[in-house]
Amino acid sequence: MLSSFAPGKIILFGEHAVVYGQPALAVPVTQLSARVDIEDSPDEQTWIDAPDIGVTATLEDLRRDTHPLAFVIGVIYNSLGARRFLPIRIRITSTIPIASGLGSGTAVSIALIRALATTIGLPVSNEQVNTIAFEAERVYHGAPSGIDNTVITYSQPIYFIKGQPPETFQAREAFTIAIADTGIPAPTRDAVADVRRMWQQKPEQWEAVFTRVGGIARAAREKIESGQVEALGPLMDENHALLQEMTVSSAELDRLVEAARSAGALGAKLSGGGRGGNMIALVPSGAGEQVQAALEAAGAAGILLTTVQ
Ligand code: PMV
Repeated sequence: MLSSFAPGKIILFGEHAVVYGQPALAVPVTQLSARVDIEDSPDEQTWIDAPDIGVTATLEDLRRDTHPLAFVIGVIYNSLGARRFLPIRIRITSTIPIASGLGSGTAVSIALIRALATTIGLPVSNEQVNTIAFEAERVYHGAPSGIDNTVITYSQPIYFIKGQPPETFQAREAFTIAIADTGIPAPTRDAVADVRRMWQQKPEQWEAVFTRVGGIARAAREKIESGQVEALGPLMDENHALLQEMTVSSAELDRLVEAARSAGALGAKLSGGGRGGNMIALVPSGAGEQVQAALEAAGAAGILLTTVQ
């Protein structure tokens, strides 16, 4: 048997503006992961077992139903240049909540790419994994920036500019963020399309907003690398205000953001596509429980504390 894992991820700064060429920062969330196990097949077929989403079927049946998993596996086999599907049993499990901005689908793709490449006997570099994962992303997200597949592939803090080689960076001083889920699936595709429509109508106005977001992401990287982590709080607040302007926040996200700030978080913002999904808050040392309790009281469906280092 062979196993492969890929972590979750969270965007710290720069979502949406990243689609327009501005930099964004994202970090892996290693407490969460997708896992793919490959075993011998009981017959000549490829079997897919994904108990979290209630799937046990042959690849052939899934392909007939145009199931997303079959599609992704097809993209991976094609990209790896494999000539035939192997008689294996692919078991997919994940602890990453779905559609909440934590990279659940992308992590499954990346764990699948690595597991299938090893099974076929083709070593793949991170760069190749990233390219194939981006192909798989495009099938579902239209025109994604590529930040999700990049941070999950490299599993390190990433400074990302669309179309450029990713840069990794390190925090000089570790810091803690709370990640809280609204419990509402994030309609990322719709949010991205709406921002695009607004940009098409008033390009200059929105490019000015995206440029400000890019400036925040650049400043945040500098603060993280120089160990001035408290300075990230106001940057989060500013970034959240600009995301509100882009109409991608929601009453639920704003409520969690306010609750975290009132409980002592140094700053807070939505994370990812918005209108649902997760928000993040910068938690000063010793305030973890307080912030967590406030987020719970404000209706968070799930809370996770993660340390960036
Ligand atoms: O919802 P998420 O975490 O997958 O993030 C989407 C990020 C956007 O910037 C809104 C879109 C993109 O492709 O970068």
